[in-house]
Amino acid sequence: MKKELKQVVRERYADAARRASEGKLVDCSPDCCSPEEHALPIIANLYEDAEVADLPQEAVNASLGCGNPAALAELHPGEVVLDLGSGGGIDVLLSAKRVGSTGKAYGLDMTDEMLELARENQRKSGVDNVEFLKGDIEDVPLPDSSVDVIISNCVINLAADKDLVFQEAFRVLKPGGRFAVSDIVACTSISPEVRENLELWSACVSGALDEDSYRGKLEAAGFQGVDLEPTRVFTIEGAGQFMGAFVRARKP
Ligand SMILES: C[S@@+](CC[C@H](N)C(=O)[O-])C[C@H]1O[C@@H](n2cnc3c(N)ncnc32)[C@H](O)[C@@H]1O
Repeated sequence: MKKELKQVVRERYADAARRASEGKLVDCSPDCCSPEEHALPIIANLYEDAEVADLPQEAVNASLGCGNPAALAELHPGEVVLDLGSGGGIDVLLSAKRVGSTGKAYGLDMTDEMLELARENQRKSGVDNVEFLKGDIEDVPLPDSSVDVIISNCVINLAADKDLVFQEAFRVLKPGGRFAVSDIVACTSISPEVRENLELWSACVSGALDEDSYRGKLEAAGFQGVDLEPTRVFTIEGAGQFMGAFVRARKP
């Protein structure tokens, strides 16, 4: 199941990267890929126009997040940031601006087409305090205690093994480091049929944790000060009620 799930996720986002490179907006909903506008309210209008005005259009088109973690994370000049599942790179490029030339922003993604798009967006942006890494958020290719802030935007729900993701986030953070993530959280219980539907999983629905599980798993990994702040609440027909949430935690 885990291997098959990753393959379905990779295929969906490889396709999304190809569409964004062709100048189209992309969408992670199961049955919709509107070229005109994001059909899912959860991923529409997440960024201020001024914030993204100088980013390549392909980075904005490829935005598939459910929040604005780089803004909410309160990044400081000189910090090292890691974006788990960086997609077309929008939050990495925004973080790079906030941490400045003395800081660094890493993006990590497992999908070659997304990495290619993100690196092209970096080239167009002309920023050099950015590096996109290929790899799995369940096995982060960075040393222990090397990162000040972990951000992520609508990706952790896609992971098959969330415990591993949180353990890896904890390992690479420096003591005092911050976890500052936007993600989808389930407000109602998810049926076994929906849980097993890989298309719905790859569309950021079936893999969502509920609030108690999110909190419990972060604490089990060693995090403290866990806080979940709802940003948008929405219903998916046949699957239940969900929220976009900003999740904060700290490595002691
Ligand atoms: C919903 S998109 C979000 C992309 C980006 N964060 C954004 O806001 O536009 C999910 C991204 O996470 C990546 N991804 C999903 N599961 C992953 C995993 N286990 N390891 C690394 N990347 C993963 C996908 O390849 C895709 O680029």
